[in-house]
Amino acid sequence: MVAGEDILTAAAAGDIHINASCGGDGTCGKCKVHVKGVKLQTKSTARLTEEELAKGYVLACQTPVYDDLTVEIPLESELLSKGRSRIKTLTAGVDEWNRQLAELAADPPVVKVYMELPEPSLNDSVSDLTRVTREARRRLGVDDVLVDLKMVKMLPDVVRAGAWRVTATLYKEAGHARLTKIEAGDTTAAHYGIAVDIGTTTCSAQLVDLNERKILAEASAYNAQISYGEDVISRMVYAKKESGRKLLQRKVVGTIDGLVAELIDQVGIEASDIDVAVLAGNTVMTHLILGVGTDQIREAPYTPVFRFGPSVTASEVGFDKLPDVPLIFHPCVASYLGGDITSGVVAADVAKHEGLVLYIDIGTNGEIVLGNNEWLMGCSCSAGPAFEGAGVKDGIRSIDGAIERVSIEPGTFETVFTTIGGKLPLGVCGSGLIDLVAELFKAGIIDKRGKFHEDLPTNRVREGEYGWEFVVAWEKVAGVDRDIVITEVDVDNLMRAKAAVYAGITTLADSVGVSLGDLEEVMIAGSFGNYIKIEEAIAIGLLPDLPIEKFKFVGNCSLLGSTKAAVSRDILARSAQITRSMSYMELSADNTFMDKYMSALFLPHTDESLFPSV
Ligand code: FES
Repeated sequence: MVAGEDILTAAAAGDIHINASCGGDGTCGKCKVHVKGVKLQTKSTARLTEEELAKGYVLACQTPVYDDLTVEIPLESELLSKGRSRIKTLTAGVDEWNRQLAELAADPPVVKVYMELPEPSLNDSVSDLTRVTREARRRLGVDDVLVDLKMVKMLPDVVRAGAWRVTATLYKEAGHARLTKIEAGDTTAAHYGIAVDIGTTTCSAQLVDLNERKILAEASAYNAQISYGEDVISRMVYAKKESGRKLLQRKVVGTIDGLVAELIDQVGIEASDIDVAVLAGNTVMTHLILGVGTDQIREAPYTPVFRFGPSVTASEVGFDKLPDVPLIFHPCVASYLGGDITSGVVAADVAKHEGLVLYIDIGTNGEIVLGNNEWLMGCSCSAGPAFEGAGVKDGIRSIDGAIERVSIEPGTFETVFTTIGGKLPLGVCGSGLIDLVAELFKAGIIDKRGKFHEDLPTNRVREGEYGWEFVVAWEKVAGVDRDIVITEVDVDNLMRAKAAVYAGITTLADSVGVSLGDLEEVMIAGSFGNYIKIEEAIAIGLLPDLPIEKFKFVGNCSLLGSTKAAVSRDILARSAQITRSMSYMELSADNTFMDKYMSALFLPHTDESLFPSV
């Protein structure tokens, strides 16, 4: 620890997570910690109550430390900290994913070629390198094979150790191939790839057998960057700090390294058996993992440094557990429509549909793509972190103890809820918040504008520290030492988020002159999508009012697109084609978006005819 460093930075350096929604800006109040025994000078006490201040609570990001001290971290942060290395087993959908992999053309971007080379003689004295590249060119049908110095240095020993029987691993790029590994003997049986979805909140990875085109293991963990902000904006704010960008790169690389270690351990292979890694992430994550600046993404006219990632290997980026394999990134469409969406759209075959498809990925940003096999158009709306449980008083991520389903009995206002893992409730996660707003509205507790009716015969509706609120869980049944509530301000935040997404959908549809009734299918992507209840999402006006059977949960398509790209170059070609052909709509530059947004700031909408089923 450096004297004068704030508690948040010192804790993160020690790999201790403290919630920090705003990235240390001092505005969210989520980083509050309890300092024991001493009174510290702090730069800001924003969002702390008198009572909390009296008890010794401070904002970790606003409080410098100069000496040893004892800090108590709130339970919500601690649970997330423990959950960071939580490893999932293979998902239920893996059989379907394997079926889709088996249907792809077996043409991985990195191939292994076993060669039986003629031994040199006085009549055939070409160099070792020519002997290998000549055979590789012939076998792959490429004009050129590129070889770096590291490979050249290894070559003489390896070819002789294998008695001129060697296995070359080659990365096929446009018009040429690159030698990435040379081994003695026939090692073609061990040929694996890593696929990664670099999420702002969670990173997920799969280990794929490239010969069998089969997923062998899956793991996920919280992106360790999370200690420096919950959404891409706060990460970009942090990246501007001295060494901030470098630190964020190290954190996400470390998270993926941890996943790689877990995957190879699960399957029992050597790290050196991995030949390629394909990654998909939003534009900010893609820049940060490569250590590229993000300042220009934050400011108008919002330009990324690149859309197609540079040719790079794992060691150049700082990976430890991943061997020095080529890293392939799904390309980004724009600053706020990244490789995760390109990867998802290609994996879900959106561009193969004749009928009109709406593809939505809701996280801190709502990313929306509309189109079919003739055209694609995309946009991104800033939904804010409310659907991920942040920026909401008792909002938490989808961890054990998060309230994920809620219903409210009209008349009695009694509340029934379920929590993830069946644990005592700690707060409400995104799917629970959608349920909650819908149920508050249906039970007549809030009106169309999201304002509380103040004269209801229940003590669950009361005036709290932050204005009117509804008690979802009383302290006596909660896992935290307070009642769990949703406030009028929270409802307002959620309504802004849902209005942004719905306005994005309608602006996109109107711009191409199609009606939402023309949609053949609505694909809900991302892990958040899997847990939302469509009826409730329609009831609050987040999703269009269409027959339920038109909605399809497509899961983590960003990861699926990376997995598919590891086994088939066709996927990468389609991903590049989608990036080049998709029109991107900048909503802030569209003069109808704001009107649509304002109209959507009601439950479910100002124009009730758009939601006849509600
Ligand atoms: Fe400290 Fe937001 S107030 S991280």
